[in-house]
Order: sequence, then C-alpha cells, then structure tokens
Amino acid sequence: MNKIHILGAGNIGCLVAHCLRVPRLPPHPPPPNVTLLLRKQKMADALQRLGGIKVDSHAEAILGNGLDVEVNNPKVLRSGPRRPHIKSLIVTTKAIHALEAVELVAPRLSPSSTVVLLQNGMGVLDEVIQSFWPDAQRRPNFVVGTTTHAVKTGEDHFHINHAGLGKVSLGIVPSPFIEWRGKGQIPSITDLKQNPRTQSLAWTIASLQQASILGCHLEAWDVAQNSQLEKLIVNACINPLTALFNCLNGELLVNRPLSAIIRTIVTEAITCIMSTPRLRELASRDRFDPDRVYSKVKSIARSTAFNRSSMLQDIDRSRDTEIDYINGYIVRLGQAAGVATPVNDLMVNLVKARFRLKTSRDLSEREILAEEARLQDEMLQGKDRPPLEESGDTDWQKEYAELQKAHAALREAYGELQKSLPSGV
Ligand SMILES: NC(=O)c1ccc[n+]([C@@H]2O[C@H](COP(=O)([O-])OP(=O)(O)OC[C@H]3O[C@@H](n4cnc5c(N)ncnc54)[C@H](OP(=O)(O)O)[C@@H]3O)[C@@H](O)[C@H]2O)c1
Repeated sequence: MNKIHILGAGNIGCLVAHCLRVPRLPPHPPPPNVTLLLRKQKMADALQRLGGIKVDSHAEAILGNGLDVEVNNPKVLRSGPRRPHIKSLIVTTKAIHALEAVELVAPRLSPSSTVVLLQNGMGVLDEVIQSFWPDAQRRPNFVVGTTTHAVKTGEDHFHINHAGLGKVSLGIVPSPFIEWRGKGQIPSITDLKQNPRTQSLAWTIASLQQASILGCHLEAWDVAQNSQLEKLIVNACINPLTALFNCLNGELLVNRPLSAIIRTIVTEAITCIMSTPRLRELASRDRFDPDRVYSKVKSIARSTAFNRSSMLQDIDRSRDTEIDYINGYIVRLGQAAGVATPVNDLMVNLVKARFRLKTSRDLSEREILAEEARLQDEMLQGKDRPPLEESGDTDWQKEYAELQKAHAALREAYGELQKSLPSGV
C-alpha cells in the first residue's frame, strides 16, 4: 500500500503529515495515506479527541480520512501482533531521540524501504547506519533533509502554528544501488522508478514534492551536504550562545566579545571539515571560506533577530538540547581528524551544564513547594488539636514553633532562589 509512516509527530512531523494529506486536484495523484507512529497511547487518544492535525494557517488533516495512528513502544510491540512492512518512513524526532526511535521500527524496514531523516545538526545518519545497517547491501534507501520552516506548538499537541513558511532540501544518500553521477548531479528519477530496490525512494520523493506547502526540492548529494554543513556551523554559533546568554538571535550581533567567539567556532568547524577526507571531497572551498561563513552567521542572526533559538527554547522548557549533534558533531570530527576544537567543546559542556542547572532548579523549586505544602498541612492539623495547656510550653507547642520557623526559612530560601534566576528562566 502507498503509505508514509511518520516517526516523531511533534511540530515538524505534524506539519509534514498535514502537508502530505492536503487534497490535490487532478491531474495530480491523490495524496498518500499517512500513519503517525506515536509512542504513547495517551497521545493517540489526544489526537482522536481533536479529530486530526490542525494547522493554524491551513485546513485540517482529518483523522480516519487517510491519516491514522499506531502506538509504537516496546511494551505494545511485545504484546501485539507483528506489524507490517514499512515502505516509506520520515523521521521527525529531535536528533537526540532518532536512534532509539528508529530501533523500534528497524525490523519493519527492508532494503527496498526508504528512510528520510529530517533532523537539525549532523550525525544521525552515521549513527543509524552503523547501529542497524552496517552492510550497505541490506540497508534501506536514505534521504537526508534540512528545513527552514518554523513550526511551534499551538493550543494542543496536534494543533500547530506554522510560524514561518520555508523550504525543505533533500539529498539522496549515495549507495551501491544509486548511480553516483558526479558532483552537482541528481540521480535520475526514471532510473530509480525502474529498479525495484529504489522504487519507494522515487515514490517518497515525488510524494514530498507534490506536497506543495512543504516546498521540497531535491539537491545533488554534494550540494545537500554543503547546505547541511553550512547550516551546522550557523547553528553551532547561534544556538549555544543564545541558550547560554538567554538572549535573542539579534543580540549576538551587537556584542564584540561574542563576535570573537563566533569567529573561533567558525574557524574550528571549517578546519575540521577540511581535515575530514569524505567531507573535504564534497565541500566547496568558496563556500567554506571563514570570512564568508562568518558573514553568513551574522546575516542569519540579523534576519532572525527577534527569534528565540530552538536551543534556548529547549532549555527554557527543561528539554534536552541537540548540542551533541551540532557543536558535538564538530568536536567528534576534530577528534577523528586530530584537530583541536576547544571552543566547540566548551559550548557543548556549558550548554549541558546550563541544562542540568535548569532541571535541578526546577527540581529544587518543586521540592521547596512540596515541603511548604507539607508544613502547611502539619500546621493545619495542629489547629485541630485540643487547646494548649495553660502552664508552660508543651512538646507540641515547641514543635509548632519550630515548624513555623522552618516555614519562614523555606519562604526566604525560595525568594532568594527566584531572585538568583535570570529573567525568563
Ligand atoms: N520546529 C521547527 O520549527 C524546526 C525547524 C527546523 C528544524 N527543526 C528540527 O526538526 C526536528 C524535530 O523538531 P520538532 O520541533 O518537530 O520537535 P518536537 O516538536 O519535539 O517533536 C519531536 C517528536 O518526536 C517524538 N518522539 C521522540 N522520541 C520518539 C520515539 N521513540 N517514537 C516516536 N516518537 C518520538 C516526540 O514525542 P513525545 O511528544 O512523545 O515526546 C515529539 O512529538 C529537530 O531536529 C529540530 O531541530 C525544527
């Protein structure tokens, strides 16, 4: 059956699912069926209640009308019947969750399946291939994509706000079954359609391209890699610095010390790329000129001046960041090529430290509130006790006074904690 499975029904996953399901007029083929792979039954129930995916700026994709869901977690998979083969899979989880998410569906993919990876950063493809399909002969077809769409969660998990209309660039990962025609060349779709091994690849790409709101375009592998590497460096500058300094993208532009850090992140990243043979072979020297890339970082910070970067938003919401696939990827390239990357390494550690601090503060805030509630409870219970004896303090009276002191100290500590938090944290 012509169906596309979407793994990771968050903001981007819902946008892709929705756009794939938008009705098309003849002579265009009807939209493909789409299945969302959700990990929790309660999310499937929430989608059921909403009746489908809602996107602020477009009509909704209605559940049951070519759009369905499967709950996909280890418990359900162990107890339920064997799930059918997946022809086409689009992975739209965050980079940090992609490996564990793909692991659950890997047995349903065959060499004739197609997997599209749509994560920010780099490194997911290498991890997935090495973990599940080290043998190229048994590997599904892979496509790597980057997107400039901006999507936020709306009123509900499946009610998204398409805040910025962008594009999706796709690059087909070369394989023994896809003829590599050289730099700047896109594989022939006619050839892909004729080979049973790559038919799903041709169909998946055509389905994505027909979803016109997505603005998908296919690029030659080297062009796609260059775009991905350039985006990686831009993200490696903007994401950690905005997350660490709790600032808008545009604020990076008017800060001389930060400009020096940005320059070093760029230089380290380009040195790593040019010292890695498989990347150097594809990288365009003009594109990876340090001054040009530095200007690119500045121009993106300028054009997104009022945005809060995705990493800053993740930290704000106490969600783990994609730093290991952005600056962390540059550090790993450096380690393999013998290039020092102290500033990128520092960014990784500082962002992780900031995340830990935020989550431990959340915890202490919760602990203090819980303790306060407990103390209040105890005091309320105390009020119900029989009246105090006239003469001298009883044990209960002393205990009550201690509780009041502890209560006051906790209030003070909580006030201090709040004062010490940067605004917006
Ligand atoms: N949003 C944007 O505007 C935007 C723009 C450009 C690029 N990107 C990139 O696109 C990727 C996705 O971003 P996003 O904003 O869509 O993230 P998101 O809203 O957090 O969505 C990720 C989804 O993946 C799901 N997930 C995680 N592990 C899973 C598993 N094992 N099985 C099934 N589902 C799983 C999560 O489910 P739960 O809800 O159950 O946790 C969540 O719904 C990221 O790499 C991001 O950097 C996003």
